[in-house]
Amino acid sequence: MTPLHETIINKKTGNKPIWLMRQAGRYLPEFREIRKSNPNFVDLCLNENLSSEISLQPLKRFDLDAAIIFSDILMLPYGLNQKVEFKKNFGPNLGELNLDNISKIDEIDFLEKLYPIYKSINKVSQNNLLKDKNLIGFIGAPWTLLVYMINKVSPKKKLIKDFFKDEFLINRLLIILEKFLKIHIEQQVKSGATVIQIFDSWAGLLEEKDLPNYVYIPTLNLVEYVKSLNIPVICFPRGIKDYKSFCEIVKPDAVNIDYNIDPHSICKEIKIPIQGGLDPKVLLTNTENIKKQTLKYLNIFKDHPYIFNLGHGVLPETNPEMVDYLVKTVKDY
Ligand code: CP3
Repeated sequence: MTPLHETIINKKTGNKPIWLMRQAGRYLPEFREIRKSNPNFVDLCLNENLSSEISLQPLKRFDLDAAIIFSDILMLPYGLNQKVEFKKNFGPNLGELNLDNISKIDEIDFLEKLYPIYKSINKVSQNNLLKDKNLIGFIGAPWTLLVYMINKVSPKKKLIKDFFKDEFLINRLLIILEKFLKIHIEQQVKSGATVIQIFDSWAGLLEEKDLPNYVYIPTLNLVEYVKSLNIPVICFPRGIKDYKSFCEIVKPDAVNIDYNIDPHSICKEIKIPIQGGLDPKVLLTNTENIKKQTLKYLNIFKDHPYIFNLGHGVLPETNPEMVDYLVKTVKDY
C-alpha cells in the first residue's frame, strides 16, 4: 500500500506522507517556461502531453508521495460550455451563464470536451515516477463552482449583492453540477486517479445557516459517490469555522485544514486523518523558520494519522529550494 493510503485507509501514524497543493505551478521555472509559449491556460490543461509533463515536474525535483493532476476546477464549467478564461494578473473570468444551454448538454458532449484530461491522467498514472505513490484527482465542490459560475470572477471577500436572488437557477445548477461532477470523478478514477480531493475554496463565504444547503448536502452526495468507487476522498472546506461538524456530517476519509485553524484543538476534536495546515507564506521566509513551523505541525500530529500539506496552495513567489527544504524536513522527521 502507498504511504498516503496507509495514512488514510489504515490510519497509520508512524509515517507522515507529503504532497503540496499547487505543487505544479508558477513557482517552478520549468512550468513558467512551458506557460510562456502556451498563453491560453485552458488549452494547456487540454494538452495531454504538456499537462502530464507538468503534473510530473514536482516529482522530478522533490521526494513527494503523490502527484496531482494538472488541470483546474473550472474545467467543469468549461465542459458545460460556459466560457472560461484566465487573464494574466487577474485570475479566472467566466462568460455568460445560460441555463437553457447548460441543461441541454449530455454526457457525450461533456466527455468529448474533457477527454484530454483523462488521457493525461492515464499517462501520468503509468509513469515510473508514480511507482508506490498516489495520483490525486480533484473537483471543485458544487458551492465553489456555483460561486465562479454566477459571480464570473473570484469573489475576493464577499459575494455580489444579488447572489441568492435567483433560487431556481441555483437549485437547477446544483442538480446539474452533481450529475457532471460524478461523471468527472468516475472518469478520473477510471483513468488512474487513486485519491480524490474536493476543493471548497469559498465555503468560508457562507453564513453558518447556509452550510447545510450549499456545503454539507451537495458535498456529502459526492463523498458518498467517491466512496462507492472504493477510492479515498479528502475534503477541503476552506475558511469554515466548524471543521468538526463538517466531518461529522460529510464524513470524508480525510480533511485538509486551512492555516487559520488551530492545529492543537483540531487534533483533539477530529478523529479522522488530517491533512495540511501550514501557512504557505512560511515558505517565503527562511530555512530556520520553515523548520520551526514544520516541526510544530509534525509534533502536534505525531500520534494522529497526518498527511503533510499546506493550508492553501504554494504561492507563485516561492523559491523552489525552500520547498525542497520543507520536503526534506518532513522526510527526515
Ligand atoms: O498543482 C496543483 O495543485 C494542480 C493543479 C491545480 C490548479 N488549480 C492549477 C492552476 C488545482 C488543484 C487547482 C484548483 C483550483 N483552481 C482551485 C481550488 C484550490 C484553491 O486554490 O483554492 C481554485 C479556486 C481554482 C480556480 C483558479 N485557477 C484561480 C482562482 C486561478 C488564478 C489564481 C491563481 O492562483 O493563479 C487559477 C489558475 C491556475 N490554476 C493556475 C494553476 C497552476 C495558475 C495559472 C497561471 O497563470 O499560470
